[in-house]
Amino acid sequence: MVKKIISIVGARPQFIKLAPLCQELRKQKSRFRHVIVHTGQHYDYNMSKIFFDQLGIPDPQYHLDVGSGSHGQQTGTMLEKIENVLQKEKPDWVMVYGDTNSTLAGALAATKLHMPLAHVEAGLRSYNRVMPEEINRVLTDHCSDVLFCPTRNAVNNLKKEGISNGRARKVVNVGDVMYDSLLLSLQVAKKQSRVLAELQLTPKQYFLATIHRAENTDNDENLTGILQALTELSREAMLVLPIHPRTKKILERSAKLKSLAHSLKIIPAVGYFDMLLLEKNAKLILTDSGGMQKEAYFLSTPCVTLRNETEWIETVQSGLNILGSIQPRRIIQSAKAILKKNIAIRRNRTLLGRGQTGQAIVSFLINH
Ligand code: UD1
Ligand code: UDP
Repeated sequence: MVKKIISIVGARPQFIKLAPLCQELRKQKSRFRHVIVHTGQHYDYNMSKIFFDQLGIPDPQYHLDVGSGSHGQQTGTMLEKIENVLQKEKPDWVMVYGDTNSTLAGALAATKLHMPLAHVEAGLRSYNRVMPEEINRVLTDHCSDVLFCPTRNAVNNLKKEGISNGRARKVVNVGDVMYDSLLLSLQVAKKQSRVLAELQLTPKQYFLATIHRAENTDNDENLTGILQALTELSREAMLVLPIHPRTKKILERSAKLKSLAHSLKIIPAVGYFDMLLLEKNAKLILTDSGGMQKEAYFLSTPCVTLRNETEWIETVQSGLNILGSIQPRRIIQSAKAILKKNIAIRRNRTLLGRGQTGQAIVSFLINH
């Protein structure tokens, strides 16, 4: 019998996580029917559609057009709309990805309807409850029947919360699905992206930064500190900042912040191919993005994380990522320290899996 799988996505990193699963499920057409639900949490072309186009993800069967809003309003609207879809489609599995409001809404909707729920990228913890993502991932993990973890640490984090492999629940270390995505796209990106030429960038002579975490952007002191550090660093090399719409709106509202950032090369958020090329060729990445810390690691580009903690501790243990905090002086010191190391660090190629996570997940679904 063909099993129906519903994937619920809505934000930029989730499209990237979905791509390998789509590809693997397509190979198993006789076993699975895959239905994609897009909540509409992200909606600008360069935050949504471009990833479907570049990664060959089929158009979602359902587009819920939820858009932006407060946490309660956005999550609540998603919950109501996802419930309608699930009741109509009656899937065998509901899959949710990562830790956004779309993840939590999908998890709650499925659980309340007693539908089997699988969480891709389960078990990550920052232990910082101020982050909306931490709440989303803890609740989603506790609702899930199958927890697809990217690392051994993630499996251990779940164990500490009483979630472990058993009769009722499965916890499996399948590796990081974003490594699959990167491997699927890097060669195509190299052929198709013109971003270095367009921005007149020389490989290994520019810094690349992104900032979008609410706790960094929505706090004037934190954002000012980060921008001061980036500005200081931009004296040494051009600093390219593809800007998230959240951050863009905040800069547009503040003449002080805009003038502080004037020496940075701020460009609109880019597609995945351009981002991979920018990351690969950067001298250094400074970011508060979860996905970009890992991509820096996969591409062996040094990274300073603009946060006090990270879920991806393996990247820090590798020496390729430093927690730079959000204090200007510490960010600058971290950048200088990691550049001085002249990193010839040997990346442990299997710490975050082997880039076959999509396949591992689909094999699991076939066997269970
Ligand atoms: C969300 C996720 C975060 C993830 C990030 C990936 C939550 C709580 N946060 O944060 O975990 O790391 O996505 O990028 O789910 N906006 C636009 N156009 C868009 C999308 C957003 O202009 O296409 C603007 C809106 O003003 C919106 C703001 O960005 O209010 C924030 O968007 P939202 O989806 O609420 O949170 P993100 O910061 O994107
Ligand atoms: N990304 C992108 N263009 C950008 C910024 C990020 O394609 O302008 C990609 C990046 O390569 C990574 C993912 O988006 O694969 C990370 O998403 P984001 O930083 O928005 O969220 P997080 O990973 O922090 O949840």
